[in-house]
Amino acid sequence: MALLIGDIAPDFEAETSEGHIHFYDHIDGKWAVLFSHPKNFTPVCTTELGYTAKLKPEFDRRGVVVVGLSVDELKNHEGWSRDIEETQGQKLNFPLIADHNREIASKYEMIHPNADTSLTVRSVYVIGPDKKIKLKIEYPASTGRNFDEVLRVIDSLQLTARHSVATPVNWKQGEDVIIASSLSDEQAKQKFPNGWTAPKPYIRIVPQPAS
Ligand code: BEZ
Repeated sequence: MALLIGDIAPDFEAETSEGHIHFYDHIDGKWAVLFSHPKNFTPVCTTELGYTAKLKPEFDRRGVVVVGLSVDELKNHEGWSRDIEETQGQKLNFPLIADHNREIASKYEMIHPNADTSLTVRSVYVIGPDKKIKLKIEYPASTGRNFDEVLRVIDSLQLTARHSVATPVNWKQGEDVIIASSLSDEQAKQKFPNGWTAPKPYIRIVPQPAS
């Protein structure tokens, strides 16, 4: 059965570049990003891993645990990590799972057999503190992801969790947000006592709440 937004993210144990982890213990009730990359020692993956490692302080600032996954063997990760540092100017600073038997990749549906029977696609899961899947994106192997977009989505997800707001098209940090339609006007008045602008009754716009 497909893993969908709102489902509980499967637990697992894994060997990683930073030792053995038990996923649920590792994320420990925090937000988490679990992402796959198709293969070590390949060009697009090298750029993605280096950039994600550079963004680590941004993930930390948001309280997000980052975990990468490939279906390569653990012994491969070390040499590749040196290449990432040499070519991207940043070494790995988060655990990279060595899922050589593809157990975790299968649980998380990261292998799309009609694309490639043995390598993963580029999957990203964002998992909430309640262990539920909040976001799922999938790119083909040939297209590097935009990890600034992953951070942008996390900002939106965290605002929704904290303030019952949604974010409009192309929203960025600091821009106006929309009161969630799950709140009645009465409930919205409690949360947003300064009111809102409403070009239509179902579009209630407020400044972004302070986090
Ligand atoms: C890459 O990272 O460049 C790559 C990896 C697997 C298949 C295609 C491209």
